[in-house]
Amino acid sequence: MHILLIGSGGREHALAWKIAASPLVTKLWCAPGNAGIAREAECVALDVANHAAVIAFCKANHVELVVVGPETPLAAGIVDELAAAGIKAFGPGREAARLEGSKGFTKDLCREFDIPTGAYRRFNNAAGALSYVRAQGAPIVVKADGLAGGKGVVVARTLAEAEAAIAMMFEGALGAAGAEVVIEEFLSGREISFFALCDGETAIPLASAQDHKRVFDHDQGPNTGGMGAYSPTPFVTPEIHEQIMSRIIGPTVAGMKQRGMPFRGVLYAGVMLTGQGPKLFEYNVRFGDPECQVLMLRMMSDIVPALLAACDGELKHFDLRWYAEAALTVVMAARGYPGDHAKGTRIDGLDAAAKIEGVEIFHAGTLARDGAILANGGRVLNVCATAKTVTEAQARAYQAIDRIKWPDGFCRRDIGWQAVEAETG
Ligand code: AMP
Ligand code: GLY
Repeated sequence: MHILLIGSGGREHALAWKIAASPLVTKLWCAPGNAGIAREAECVALDVANHAAVIAFCKANHVELVVVGPETPLAAGIVDELAAAGIKAFGPGREAARLEGSKGFTKDLCREFDIPTGAYRRFNNAAGALSYVRAQGAPIVVKADGLAGGKGVVVARTLAEAEAAIAMMFEGALGAAGAEVVIEEFLSGREISFFALCDGETAIPLASAQDHKRVFDHDQGPNTGGMGAYSPTPFVTPEIHEQIMSRIIGPTVAGMKQRGMPFRGVLYAGVMLTGQGPKLFEYNVRFGDPECQVLMLRMMSDIVPALLAACDGELKHFDLRWYAEAALTVVMAARGYPGDHAKGTRIDGLDAAAKIEGVEIFHAGTLARDGAILANGGRVLNVCATAKTVTEAQARAYQAIDRIKWPDGFCRRDIGWQAVEAETG
């Protein structure tokens, strides 16, 4: 089978690694890919925003399945256009991708189908939003409705912060994404990521994971795309797992079907484990990055039949098997990330690091030049490890990191701390 994977991050390297391991695959391409993905797939310099070019590539190369990693092409409707051209693609269509592309859309769905979430109101002007936050008080959360590259959510500790966020969004700092704003109740509790594979009707849980969004140790500093993750998380007990499936994922899949926009692909729920049970605070319509890296390491089953079953509406009788081992990933980023950072700095020691038992290194922003690996982005490497416990996986990952020579990079030193604390009492 010929497969084209779309994306260039650590998530896509992990997907490429897992897809390439399938005996069903005879040829794998990745557009645009990165230096690590090039070990698993043939990287092609396609402009993925140009859907016609992607379709032409698929036709010329007899591609039978396209797997879309990031949200931008999904929200732009690439899956619909591929389907219209007779090419099977994994991921939601444009309408179903609104679960990530419009926070207000998702909140309204939650209200209609009684999915537990924070109280909220939608606004299309600053005056209404300001009087609402003044009535509610802080802490409170201000969210741009549209896709804002991770900059669209302000968790305001004070009323002044909430007012500043509202002004910023309605003044156009986030472009069209901020033309509408959702004001949401602040939820307190532990934050987890929960993933389910969906075929429009049936959802099968993948696994739980925990991300680390803040840039510095002890969850300090600005939010990032994610600085590390581990799976499974001890905080998603069998009871909580059941509640998330029956009260959040199940009603969402049923509601989307009822609305005539069935959800096919990976549904990624950002869930707060509150005193009143799990509550949804956001949906993404794709695998998390870096959560995907740890999920792929833990997945025992061949992923390709699962992706095909999701596209074909055949998940009902499907079963996925997982390794019981824990997996953990630490992101190495270019110094300065998530702000300005240098490109083109040299990274050494990757082969020595990868020799440590249980360690796998997935690339994100990397480039190969004259036999050297150079940094080419903000998040650059994912140093992953599997082991019996999160504590052991963490030790292995940091042992590997200590062999990597990259003076211009940095990482958090405490990835997995919540699970390590739970494991070691
Ligand atoms: P996002 O950019 O949508 O991933 O959101 C960024 C972060 O904001 C999330 O990871 C949560 O930590 C936080 N967040 C979002 N909604 C809420 C909420 N209602 N209450 C508390 N924190 C929230
Ligand atoms: N890890 C967060 C995200 O993928 O959005």
